Amino acid sequence: MSADIKQQIIEMVGPDLEQVEKALEENLSPNLPLVREIASHLLFAGGKRLRPLLMIHAARMCGYANGYEILFSTIFEYLHAATLLHDDVVDGADKRRGKAAAHTIWDAPKVVLTGDFLLARALDIASKTRSPRVISVIAHITQAMSQGEIDQMENKGRPDLSEAEYNEIIERKTAVLIQGACRSGAIVAEAPEEEETGLKDYGFHLGMAFQMADDLLDYTATAEELGKNPGADMREGKLTLPLIHSLANADDNDREWILDTMARTEFDPERFAGLKQRLADLGGIAYTGERAVRHVAAAKAALDVFEPSESKTLLNLIADYSITRKV
Ligand code: IPE
Ligand code: IPE
Ligand code: MG
Ligand code: MG
Repeated sequence: MSADIKQQIIEMVGPDLEQVEKALEENLSPNLPLVREIASHLLFAGGKRLRPLLMIHAARMCGYANGYEILFSTIFEYLHAATLLHDDVVDGADKRRGKAAAHTIWDAPKVVLTGDFLLARALDIASKTRSPRVISVIAHITQAMSQGEIDQMENKGRPDLSEAEYNEIIERKTAVLIQGACRSGAIVAEAPEEEETGLKDYGFHLGMAFQMADDLLDYTATAEELGKNPGADMREGKLTLPLIHSLANADDNDREWILDTMARTEFDPERFAGLKQRLADLGGIAYTGERAVRHVAAAKAALDVFEPSESKTLLNLIADYSITRKV
């Protein structure tokens, strides 16, 4: 079913994607060749372009017809790319979008500064919306994301991280950006308040489901599917919902085994397979899937305020895709 959903989405957004690719290339405008090189390494390595597509179709669903949605949508991919460059440095991740993570090729300081450049590009384009509300949404996103990443770093390896704390972290580091892309679409379209709220709620729930699916894939997918190495969360000492829920159900033996596994610095494939088995047996995998499914249902329900349209169909498909995806 997921291949079908993906195919349907690709057929609907083909022309948009082409235009987004072109706009990303044209608007990068770095003064230094090195910045272009580092930014391009990540930006043009693939990537689903989920956030720009969400902004474009949120705007169109609200009747936007001024012709700038492609340009404005690049804000959210530049912002996303900036956070990915930073995130891989923070996480010490070695792969991204199927390629070597930028900081394994260039020094981390150069990569971090390129991330800053991309953030500045995003802000520059945001100013072209001439909408203080869009700029305020974006300022809120960048604050929330850095707080989410710092919060996650501070909590690294803490075995008693609660589900509520996890929810707060993923809201900040992932959902707020996805939400902001959707909401900005409504703002540039000057949509009525109930439509903006509908898109805000849709984006929040989609973002939560999307990160939960990402956290599941870290245990269930292969490196080829994912374009980044599975098991990264375990290696990084990152407690995500499959693990949090399993720890809550574990007896002393399992608990000790899991915590010992998390504490090891060397990656051991056998140990990782054992961990996956325990997460399945202790219900953490199924529970995370259930939570994600609920968020998808809430995301779709939030679109009830809209009349049927092609963009609405697409946003519903994206909600389904967020948890059936393999990448
Ligand atoms: C990766 O986002 C970071 C998360 C929020 C999990 P995507 O899965 O959208 O990454 P790309 O843009 O397709 O590479
Ligand atoms: C994703 O964080 C959200 C960002 C702020 C980039 P993760 O660290 O969980 O995402 P991956 O697994 O590196 O893509
Ligand atoms: Mg990471
Ligand atoms: Mg992850």
